[in-house]
Amino acid sequence: MKGVILAGGTGSRLFPLTKVTNKHLLPVYDKPMICYPLNTLVNAGIDDILIVSGRGHVGHFLELLGSGSDMGVRLSYEIQEGAGGIAQALGLARRWADHDSVTVILGDNIFEDPVKDAVQSFKSGARIFLKEVPDAQRFGVAEISGDHIIGIEEKPKQPKSNLAVTGLYIYDSEVFRIIQELKPSGRGELEITDVNNAYIQKSAMTFSLLKGFWSDAGTFDSLLHASVMVQESRKTQTSR
Ligand code: DAU
Repeated sequence: MKGVILAGGTGSRLFPLTKVTNKHLLPVYDKPMICYPLNTLVNAGIDDILIVSGRGHVGHFLELLGSGSDMGVRLSYEIQEGAGGIAQALGLARRWADHDSVTVILGDNIFEDPVKDAVQSFKSGARIFLKEVPDAQRFGVAEISGDHIIGIEEKPKQPKSNLAVTGLYIYDSEVFRIIQELKPSGRGELEITDVNNAYIQKSAMTFSLLKGFWSDAGTFDSLLHASVMVQESRKTQTSR
């Protein structure tokens, strides 16, 4: 199992914070944002990790994280020219992944739950991680029947559930074939939701429900929320 952090995109929703630096280097409480998804992968036991980022400020990622030897992992870097979507960014990992399964995490997603068991027990197909949220229309939203997932809609105006698809995905190597066949969506991006729906159509998708806090940090409000949640969780840990 290899790990991929997707840290491309423009960060336009956080402008002007992202005018002179990359979104994933902004602070979330006491650390640069990218350290959280990186820790999630490292804590899951993944030690070979690719960071895909846009062209701007890529040197800053290298300065911050280097080879990964401080954390006992090997970090590699790839550039996504432009911002053609999450699935396009993942497609850039194909050669590096070399037929292995990949755990993929969005660089602006902060997870409290450990995911080591799900990662280490993964065999084939795909697995996603769902979280109950009050504002599902901001996310990919899953429709569930019992323990089956029926489909995912990207940012629906009228969500069929309150289950957001979080930015953490486990895929077998088939994912790269699926990405090669994708067509751009209405907003001109290769959508990760289309990748996930392809697995659902093959009945090859499983899911976990997250219990702990989860937040993206890609808007002013969610960036603030993520910092407050991390601060709360630190307080709980130190009072134990
Ligand atoms: O946060 C979870 C949500 O992330 C999911 O529920 C949605 O299904 C998924 O589409 C995504 O939605 P967003 O609109 O929040 O994605 P955003 O464009 O903000 O991109 C999130 C991260 O993905 C970003 O921090 C870096 C990476 N990314 C994004 C794009 C568009 C790339 O690496 N390359 C890209 O071209």
